[in-house]
Amino acid sequence: MGNYTLTVLPGDGIGPEIVKQAVQVLQIIGERYHHTFTFQHGLVGVAAIEAEGEAISEATLALCQQSHAILFGAVGALPTYYGQQPKVKPEQALFKLRKGLQFFANLRPVQTYAELLNASTIKPEVLDGTDLVVVRELTGGLYYGHLEPPVPGKPSEIRQTEHGLEAIDTLLYTEAEIERIIRMAFEIARGRRKKVTSVDKANVLSSSVLWRRVAERVAADYPDITFEHLLVDACAMHLIRRPTAFDVIVTENLFGDILTDEASMLAGSMGMLPSASLGTRRTEHGQFGLYEPIHGSAPDIAGQDKANPIATILSAALLLRYSLGLEKEAYAIETAVSHVIKAGYRTEDLKEEGKTLVGTQEMGQRIVDALVQLSL
Ligand code: NAD
Ligand code: IPM
Ligand code: MN
Repeated sequence: MGNYTLTVLPGDGIGPEIVKQAVQVLQIIGERYHHTFTFQHGLVGVAAIEAEGEAISEATLALCQQSHAILFGAVGALPTYYGQQPKVKPEQALFKLRKGLQFFANLRPVQTYAELLNASTIKPEVLDGTDLVVVRELTGGLYYGHLEPPVPGKPSEIRQTEHGLEAIDTLLYTEAEIERIIRMAFEIARGRRKKVTSVDKANVLSSSVLWRRVAERVAADYPDITFEHLLVDACAMHLIRRPTAFDVIVTENLFGDILTDEASMLAGSMGMLPSASLGTRRTEHGQFGLYEPIHGSAPDIAGQDKANPIATILSAALLLRYSLGLEKEAYAIETAVSHVIKAGYRTEDLKEEGKTLVGTQEMGQRIVDALVQLSL
């Protein structure tokens, strides 16, 4: 029974296709639960560069600031685009949003569905029961490298020296940046199975030695939580060897990026993993947030009605939960998604013999239908 303003940023490639389905799901939630969602659309990525000369304009950023939450599709162009060394990269939209709006924590939940165990390349008995969340630090580390003060979206440059070309990216974390993300991980663990795994590369990197030291100190405030450290290379291995051993994984920006693409294979596809990016700003109903699938613009399948919209639809569920405080409605979406998977509908990324292959639009429609039919 609330009025909510949502900024919708579809972006490039499959972005508009998948976001359209998520918006339809939100619309039906609005109708069924008597909420008014006002969607304000903005340009990001290549479309924004072409129309406005930058990956996201100040006006669009202001639109985001004035809303309860942001739903983001994906940005990124074909590899040939980067070959031309564009002055502005579409990905800069992400950095401006994340750093500019101080979304320092990127939550990436990973769950397996019993019906999708066979769709993964990993053995079903290894996957069964996986339920973890990666808490990825999102506004520091290698992504915001060497420029001082850091400039969002300008993490590195290639420069000419007398010995040839060189490039530099530096990995800087302050104690305060580490502490707030570690604390968030412990708080999340309290509402889950009470285990935190902090992932670093403390055998090599000074930033990781500091990370570990701060993590130890924060852990002392949470005696009820089981706490462990893992080196990132070993974590990459354990993640597919014994995924059910994990509950909350907390790690720096690039490690979290890589580990979650890997973790998507536990769920069966990149098209299954949603994310929520949060900071300290609160709205009247929850936390201000940015919601997006973990995958990219998938130029290889764009415009073909092949993309799996579930990661984006589940991101919309996270939006309802964290930014609008609408738990019942979020759960309804998650139940509808489970139902459609149980009923055997699959997009191409999860295609399996004996299952019904559907396109992006039909998958979205099936989820909308499930919300209606199951009276969710
Ligand atoms: P990608 O995530 O776009 O695609 C990787 C592979 O997964 C591709 O084969 C793609 O077809 C498949 N895939 C991804 N999402 C899918 C979905 N919903 N349904 C079915 N299949 C799906 O990664 P990439 O190809 O390395 O990058 C493409 C572009 O996307 C790059 O420009 C990159 O910078 C950008 N990117 C953007 C974001 C974002 O906007 N948050 C995230 C990752 C990558
Ligand atoms: C992601 C993406 C982005 C990242 C890219 C497109 C900059 O891979 O959201 O995971 O590395 O953060
Ligand atoms: Mn990524």
